[in-house]
Amino acid sequence: MRVLILGADGYLGWPTVMHLTSKGHTVAAVDNYLRRRICREENAEPLFEVPNLHQRAARWRAVSGCQVPVFIGDLMDWNFVQEVFQHFKPEAVVHYAEQPAAPYSMLNRRAATLTLQNNLLVTANIIFAVHEFCPEAQIVKIGTMGEYGTPNIDIEEGWITVDHHGRQHRFLYPRQASSLYHTTKIMDTDLLWFYVRTWNLRVTDLMQGPVYGLQTYESEQYDDLRPFFNYDELFGTVLNRFVVQAVADYPLTIYGQGGQTRGYLDINDTMNCVRLSLEKPAQKGELRIFNQFTELFSVRELAEKVQKVGRQFGLKVTLQNLKNPRKEAETHYYNPVHTGLLELGLEPHFLTDEMLAGMIEIVSTHKDNINPEIIFKGVRW
Ligand SMILES: NC(=O)c1ccc[n+]([C@@H]2O[C@H](COP(=O)([O-])OP(=O)(O)OC[C@H]3O[C@@H](n4cnc5c(N)ncnc54)[C@H](O)[C@@H]3O)[C@@H](O)[C@H]2O)c1
Repeated sequence: MRVLILGADGYLGWPTVMHLTSKGHTVAAVDNYLRRRICREENAEPLFEVPNLHQRAARWRAVSGCQVPVFIGDLMDWNFVQEVFQHFKPEAVVHYAEQPAAPYSMLNRRAATLTLQNNLLVTANIIFAVHEFCPEAQIVKIGTMGEYGTPNIDIEEGWITVDHHGRQHRFLYPRQASSLYHTTKIMDTDLLWFYVRTWNLRVTDLMQGPVYGLQTYESEQYDDLRPFFNYDELFGTVLNRFVVQAVADYPLTIYGQGGQTRGYLDINDTMNCVRLSLEKPAQKGELRIFNQFTELFSVRELAEKVQKVGRQFGLKVTLQNLKNPRKEAETHYYNPVHTGLLELGLEPHFLTDEMLAGMIEIVSTHKDNINPEIIFKGVRW
């Protein structure tokens, strides 16, 4: 399959390029380095430097024989989008190309409007491009479990049937996010659903939980092909941050009581979920939604797991409950369904002590790069 990966320089995008090509798909990689730029602007550099997308594509070709064309440009720019779609003629599109950080989106007005403009316009351009240039192609869009928020009822897989005054109708499951970033993801889903109804598009929207890990099977032998790895408050996800904090002897930053529960997954499972969604596509005129995570943990449980394994490495690993800088429920009901991807064939990787030990080992080799000043800034909302 000819797969266009949008946001291919990112934490998930680059490993997806390697994964899909290693499984025999033909892939093109698109990015404008937005993530690198805003990390630099906010002094939130990743744990280690990674080569640029051209360099990574050349290196991957040298070790795997897979050739990956690279397009550098802004997907908000319709001329660029047209050029990429006309040139590559995709049979499927993976859409990762967004500003993906909740704390960044809450930083100030400039960051908020960047997030709104970027995420919604990129999604709209992709919809228009698929409709115009490759209407049979499936869009695999990465949404977030954060779209649902933490309702006091079970969370279904995307849809719910409402019984009202004796009549029934199937609706998108109610969504109520707790950051502007997550709200843009809700708006993306609404845009996609509107154009699925209007233009018969074929869409899979993956409601993904926070991802952890810093290597995939394809990068195991090649340190320079690992994805970039953020551990700062703005761009790092919670478990990745806790591992770095443990290695840096920085108390693990638990917000409030730490009862915030979410669905997590190993980065290798993201690769498999996206590939399975491509290989077993949605129908024309279908918006298919899967909840993409493998296990539920509270923040405190994650911290305790890192503490336990960290201590086996002789690390001190202390836990610290901070006044929560965010507006969110610290204890709540949380019971999301997640059977769709298992039915497609996902074989989950779980958060074992071995997995955590592997992360601690890799992070320890970069210990000298850790800048404790960027671990906690206290972005409030
Ligand atoms: N990492 C997670 O834990 C997680 C969890 C849930 C959902 N997601 C979603 O998955 C997707 C990928 O996440 P990630 O962690 O790899 O983020 P990332 O920031 O590392 O990757 C996104 C990439 O898209 C690029 N991009 C953004 N806007 C662009 C534009 N206008 N034109 C061209 N390229 C553009 C960025 O430069 C970046 O390289 C995002 O949509 C994110 O919201 C991620």
